[in-house]
Amino acid sequence: MNSSIDDSSHGSQAFKASMRAQWDSAASGWNGHTTDIHAWLHKATHAMCRMAGVRAGARVLDVAAGSGDQTLTIAQEVGAQGYVLATDLSPAIVALARDNAVRASFTQVETRVADGEDLGVPEATFDAAVCRLGLMFFPDPLRGLREMHRALRPGGGVCTMVFSRPEKNPCLTILMSTALKHAGLPARDPFVAGGLLSLGQPGHIDELFRSAGFHDVATTALDAVFRLPTVDHYLDFVRSSASPILQILGQLDAAEAEAAWSEMRERLMVFTTREGWHGPNELLLTAGRRAKVTP
Ligand SMILES: C[S@@+](CC[C@H](N)C(=O)[O-])C[C@H]1O[C@@H](n2cnc3c(N)ncnc32)[C@H](O)[C@@H]1O
Repeated sequence: MNSSIDDSSHGSQAFKASMRAQWDSAASGWNGHTTDIHAWLHKATHAMCRMAGVRAGARVLDVAAGSGDQTLTIAQEVGAQGYVLATDLSPAIVALARDNAVRASFTQVETRVADGEDLGVPEATFDAAVCRLGLMFFPDPLRGLREMHRALRPGGGVCTMVFSRPEKNPCLTILMSTALKHAGLPARDPFVAGGLLSLGQPGHIDELFRSAGFHDVATTALDAVFRLPTVDHYLDFVRSSASPILQILGQLDAAEAEAAWSEMRERLMVFTTREGWHGPNELLLTAGRRAKVTP
């Protein structure tokens, strides 16, 4: 079991308040990079939808939806007869998700500001639930999974997407270790709850799914190379939207922060190829099902 942030509810509330503030300020940066994020996660997103059982006419719960890139993919898949509820902790990013859905004329999308550990949705009202790159930020991911389980009708499916092991996500480990070093902070245990790579330990997320009550639990690892023209395009994405790194560097003055960015650039250059900058990432897609009620 991963160690938690702080067992007290006070610690968890403070952690979430800081998470909300970080994503409120990174919201427009994340949304502004939707085209790159979409291209990066497009294949994995379709696999996630398939594994959760998203289909025409379905009611789908989208947890930690951000500015809604995957929400729009789901809206397309469920069609006008379906329904998607996109939820997120950050009011600023939810407002962008709502604007994006309106702009795409998807009347089947609703948005709501909600903590994934306490969604406030009625029991057994969704056919499928997804959470793309969000669950690892929860101080208590088991609570988040129990909430999704509660929201699903019997037989409904879930699929979450998180980063896998640190060695399979070298760009993230370079960013994190460089930021911590420049901030004068000690190296962090990547598996402590609430961190970017916290659910990447082999087998851990499957255990959480089973503890939350899910059946037929299975995890698939997927390569998701982030392909951009140059390392500077990646750094531009990180500098405007990677809130965990920005939070660490926020403690430095401008010159100190620039020194950190410059070292990150140098270390990330190693992923430059003749075809552009190709940053390796590995994702875990974990699927499960709420048991059907036995007759
Ligand atoms: C990396 S972004 C992913 C957004 C979106 N799913 C995507 O893939 O584009 C992580 C999101 O998790 C949200 N988040 C973090 N902790 C949360 C919590 N406890 N409950 C709900 N959302 C949370 C953040 O506000 C942020 O929008």
